Amino acid sequence: MKNILHVTSSPRGDESISTQLGRAIVSELISKNPGSELVEIDLVNNPFPHLDGKQTTALRTPTDLLTEEQKQLLERSNEAVRQLFTADHIIISLPLHNFGIASVLKSWLDNVIRAGHTFSYSSEGPKGLLSGKKVHIAIATGGIYSDGPMAALDFAVPYLESIFKFIGITDFEVYRAEGLGIPALQEKALEKAIESIAV
Ligand SMILES: Cc1cc2nc3c(=O)[nH]c(=O)nc-3n(C[C@H](O)[C@H](O)[C@H](O)COP(=O)(O)O)c2cc1C
Repeated sequence: MKNILHVTSSPRGDESISTQLGRAIVSELISKNPGSELVEIDLVNNPFPHLDGKQTTALRTPTDLLTEEQKQLLERSNEAVRQLFTADHIIISLPLHNFGIASVLKSWLDNVIRAGHTFSYSSEGPKGLLSGKKVHIAIATGGIYSDGPMAALDFAVPYLESIFKFIGITDFEVYRAEGLGIPALQEKALEKAIESIAV
């Protein structure tokens, strides 16, 4: 039995290729680990607002110095951090938007990459506080970024790998449904990505 957290960030609902790919990873994990618990976070229908001044200050304030107002402001961020700590497997479904991650996913990251909670500063530099977890990326892209001339523009996946490593998660797998904007490739892109799933 495993705890599975599936985070989705495409505005395209059930049509979304990254969401479908993420669901296929979830299904595979559940079939390998019967009785697993699944938590789904839909960042489009339930987004974290972009950081404003109050939220930024609250996020950077040590817990014992928080005001009551700041504690309330941090409730949802705290819940998101707890969900990360509970999960054994974290599946991140993301559409590539303008060579980057969807902005709703960035807002969620801004609420879970937290000093004193998911990483700490030590004399040797920052240290990730999560361990024993695996991240599975389900990315959907119009072009091809795993290889060829566009590979130099593959910013989203290395960014995600770095940010999860920063909080201590080094077990990182990537599944790509790519070429969705290329007529000769789009039809089979999702099928091919699903076939490659190995959890
Ligand atoms: C606003 C927007 C920006 C996009 N930017 C890119 C891009 O930079 N590179 C790319 O390969 N595809 C890009 N695409 C295509 C999407 O990555 C592709 O349609 C993918 O299927 C989206 O994932 P989804 O099906 O999960 O929503 C973009 C699509 C949209 C709507």
